[in-house]
Amino acid sequence: MTSVDLLVINAAEVVTCAGFSQAPARGADLSAVGVVRDGAVAIGDGRILDVGASDRLRREYRVDESKIVDCGGGVVLPGFVDCHTHMVFAGDRADEWAERMQGKPYLEILKAGGGILSTVKKTRAASEAALVAGARRWAKLALGLGTTTLEIKSGYCLDHDGELKMLAAARALAEELPLEVVTTFLGAHVVPKEHKANREKYLELVLETAAEVRRQNLAEYFDVFSEAEAFTVEEAERLATKAKELGFGIKLHAEQFTASGAAQLGVRLGAVSVDHLEHVDDATVAALSKGDTIGVLLPAVPFHLGMTDYAPGRRLADAGVPLAIATDMNPGSACTPSIPMAIAIACRSVGLTPSEAVMAVTQNAAHALGRGAVTGSLEPGKRADLVVCDVPDHRWLGYAFGYNPVRTVIAKGKRVLKREELLLC
Ligand code: NIG
Ligand code: FE
Repeated sequence: MTSVDLLVINAAEVVTCAGFSQAPARGADLSAVGVVRDGAVAIGDGRILDVGASDRLRREYRVDESKIVDCGGGVVLPGFVDCHTHMVFAGDRADEWAERMQGKPYLEILKAGGGILSTVKKTRAASEAALVAGARRWAKLALGLGTTTLEIKSGYCLDHDGELKMLAAARALAEELPLEVVTTFLGAHVVPKEHKANREKYLELVLETAAEVRRQNLAEYFDVFSEAEAFTVEEAERLATKAKELGFGIKLHAEQFTASGAAQLGVRLGAVSVDHLEHVDDATVAALSKGDTIGVLLPAVPFHLGMTDYAPGRRLADAGVPLAIATDMNPGSACTPSIPMAIAIACRSVGLTPSEAVMAVTQNAAHALGRGAVTGSLEPGKRADLVVCDVPDHRWLGYAFGYNPVRTVIAKGKRVLKREELLLC
């Protein structure tokens, strides 16, 4: 009998999402999540050793009683990968959100110097330690909601030192928490006030800062918010082309409020992902369906902003676009760290099935961070990132919402969350 570090047993379903470690699932495969009933997972040295029937794994592996995780009929899934967040920031925007709920448009708030720019003011004034403290709270909530790999973008300082400070804060957070953090440089979020009169100067500054980010190895990806009030597609192309030369992978915020052509630019540039896609046209859907760039849907954004124009997820999925889903956690357009909530909204308003949504927050989201071969599925050799949910089958991730279904989280092979029973006394 082989001895193991942890044995996860008695799952009504082990949802493996196996078979797509090399390339994201798309088309009919998007729902091919792979379910092992009455399943179990054996874990050793931080890796998944075996996945199969509970009976067999109990017979074949030896483990200390205290290292048995009994799911009691729950569902085991790969740890969630939140592949798009802006989790490092200072302050909040509850006031502006209240105005937004009374009808004031998001881009109008930004045009008037609020929105992203009001978070910039506060984030510039915050110390690195204060930023770590703020992000720690959200990251711990995310972990408790099943996220074991997390992307974090800069983009709320928009000056050389401040952007480096944000990325250093994200890295510091990664050191102290058990989850994996992947960082993205978003100096091209919007043009800050002091450069409004000279955009060219700001574009130069973004590239100078990008070079320093690479020198200090503070971020893997380079992102541009291509949108009215932010950067044109031409500007995004210039910046991203240079960023590629510096060695960054490319991500783009594309087609959020307007159909600009940014997503097609992403495909042309070989971007790892284009994110948002609320306003894609037919040509964009066709380009995405032929390319390898992942479409990252952020359904919590229209929900949070009280809008009705969700991304046409069903159309994109049927066209064969490889899709991922993320929270977009940020103080302005999506104040939630909850992947289960993003799944619930995706099923209702974006048109994905629960199986598709599960693949989109696990294996496909891992690919959107270049981690497809490392995490995102439950198969031998993968990093042992797992979530145990208190639900009878995986459809419940979409079906039941507004509470936290996560009972246990295992990250990098270690049990990092074990929810205690609620004591009603
Ligand atoms: O992904 N769209 C641009 N950036 C973020 C919002 C950031 C903010 O409002 O603070 C987004 O929605
Ligand atoms: Fe975003």
